Amino acid sequence: MGKNVLGSLSVKTFLQHYWQKEAHLFQQSIPDFLGFLTAKEIKQLATKPDVQARLIVRQGRHYECHHGPFRPVDLKHLGEKNWTLLIQSVNHWLPEADQLLHDFRFIPYARLDDVMVSYATPGGGVGPHFDHYDVFLLQGYGLRRWEIAKTSDLAIRPNQSLKLLQRFSAQHTHDLEPGDMLYLPPLWAHNGTALTECFTYSIGFRAPTHQEWVNAMLDYLRDELQVSGVYSDPDLREERHPAKLPDSLIEQIFTITQKIQWGKKEVIDMVGRYLSEPKTTVFFDGAENSLSLQKFSQSWTERQLLLNSRTQLLFHKQRFFINGEAFNPDSSCLPLLTELADNKIIKPQVKSKQPKALVALLHDWHEQGWVYFS
Ligand code: SIN
Ligand code: CO
Repeated sequence: MGKNVLGSLSVKTFLQHYWQKEAHLFQQSIPDFLGFLTAKEIKQLATKPDVQARLIVRQGRHYECHHGPFRPVDLKHLGEKNWTLLIQSVNHWLPEADQLLHDFRFIPYARLDDVMVSYATPGGGVGPHFDHYDVFLLQGYGLRRWEIAKTSDLAIRPNQSLKLLQRFSAQHTHDLEPGDMLYLPPLWAHNGTALTECFTYSIGFRAPTHQEWVNAMLDYLRDELQVSGVYSDPDLREERHPAKLPDSLIEQIFTITQKIQWGKKEVIDMVGRYLSEPKTTVFFDGAENSLSLQKFSQSWTERQLLLNSRTQLLFHKQRFFINGEAFNPDSSCLPLLTELADNKIIKPQVKSKQPKALVALLHDWHEQGWVYFS
């Protein structure tokens, strides 16, 4: 089990009173947490081609946003004030950040987005804004001031590279020290300003809009729905207006489109695939050491098997979803697969306890780089 990041609050109390409802400050959520990156390391990450990085430079009320990947020289002469460098999905790059997520497993993985880290020099920040996310803002090294407000005035400044609030006045101000953590529900206005050189780790939980879900369902149906039949009109009659859409044509197509139907089963499938689909920036390089099926099975007798931090393994009843694919595993696989999905790790197993179907499945995932041995 992970650390209790909620301090004296029980998970039940937190979910009942704060989750999606109220902001909450957890003092010393992770006592003396300093984070796991130095300024030099975060700058190095920002130069990697498949890392999503942003640099935001503030001049008074104006913020200029630049997107990575950056060249080392871009990050060399930024001065000592008023800028911040942000890296998305550090849990895909740093085992410590992936480990940090373990402390938040009281929220379903289906809701998790990523861990973002920001490094800021004094006066640096991304400006007053809101997110469609639930976020835990965990303070690493240094001090940051968070001004927050629950407001319906969410008008955005026009013509800016960043979505900043036109008006913002703080209702609460919290100065966070290393290890403090602020929870914010979606749509809360917030403005974080570095008081000293500092790092903030944002553990974000996505809350897709209804439009996104509808689009995802339509995409799913377009890919999956197969119907038979061809348009036909053996009873065609001569029309006075050849440009007019015949009523019989409309009627027939109305009937055809009634074939677009779905039930819970399709919704479960769509949701599982959609939420386990890797982001477009995520790539798998295949197994570091390719193994034969036999060697794989032998290795599993001695070593733990871990889920790659980029792999999303989710399930609903007997249906499993991994990296955008859906399948129904053989029932012999279910206990260990469920363990792997929940804990992201499974213990070594003697050969007699390795279900054949599971060895084949895990071997395939191993070759794709979705799982690896400790
Ligand atoms: C930051 O770490 O500066 C930005 C986090 C946020 O406001 O969502
Ligand atoms: Co934010």
